[in-house]
Amino acid sequence: MTAVSPRRRRAVQFHRLSPDEFRARLREALAIYVAAMRYPVGTAEQRAPMWLTHVLREGWRCIGALDADGTLVGIAYGYRGLPGQWWHEQVRRGLVRSSGEEIAAAWLTDYFELTEIHVRPQNQGEGIGEDLLRRLLDGVPNRHVLLSTPEGPTRAWTLYRRVGFEDVLRNYHFAGDPRPFAILGRSLPLPPRP
Ligand SMILES: CC(C)(COP(=O)(O)OP(=O)(O)OC[C@H]1O[C@@H](n2cnc3c(N)ncnc32)[C@H](O)[C@@H]1OP(=O)(O)O)[C@@H](O)C(=O)NCCC(=O)NCCS
Repeated sequence: MTAVSPRRRRAVQFHRLSPDEFRARLREALAIYVAAMRYPVGTAEQRAPMWLTHVLREGWRCIGALDADGTLVGIAYGYRGLPGQWWHEQVRRGLVRSSGEEIAAAWLTDYFELTEIHVRPQNQGEGIGEDLLRRLLDGVPNRHVLLSTPEGPTRAWTLYRRVGFEDVLRNYHFAGDPRPFAILGRSLPLPPRP
């Protein structure tokens, strides 16, 4: 499938990647992640085992954006969030503290965690991120989608707000990370693009 938005300078194809395709493109995907997040290069090595573990989780799905020559220019993946997962327990702790058990349960009972979404820096701002996000969430069977993102303003914030993500928890500190994060969420399915 090929889609060219008016904002886009060139054709990009979106593919749902199987676990094997994802594993084959892991280095490429991590290189995009490191460049997009401006992390030190060594971060890719640290992240690789974790990303491979995520593939095995219930409901894992991944969309890749490929340039005309087959180069990966963007990647998004996620899976069903469940008790016992590190992220789930961290968010639950914060949400119970800020809003109580009932609200925490309402958000955390049946959700898809949007774990990673990244576009190569030279391709950002062309609408690829929104396409990745919409295609990733299309057909997800869960009631909500949740994600965490460093407190903005960033391109990611612009995108998440544009597709209707609301604040679930703000200025939250995950264990071992000094940066303040926001947890954002919205109901599924997404409404059609305006
Ligand atoms: C976040 C990210 C994945 C979004 O991907 P993207 O391809 O840049 O996103 P989009 O092009 O769909 O949207 C972002 C920008 O395009 C604009 N845009 C795109 N489509 C638009 C539309 N239809 N209408 C209005 N604005 C639009 C947005 O307003 C935003 O503008 P900006 O350039 O002023 O910031 C990407 O920017 C990225 O990798 N960022 C660094 C890594 C990161 O933060 N990842 C998420 C961590 S939680």
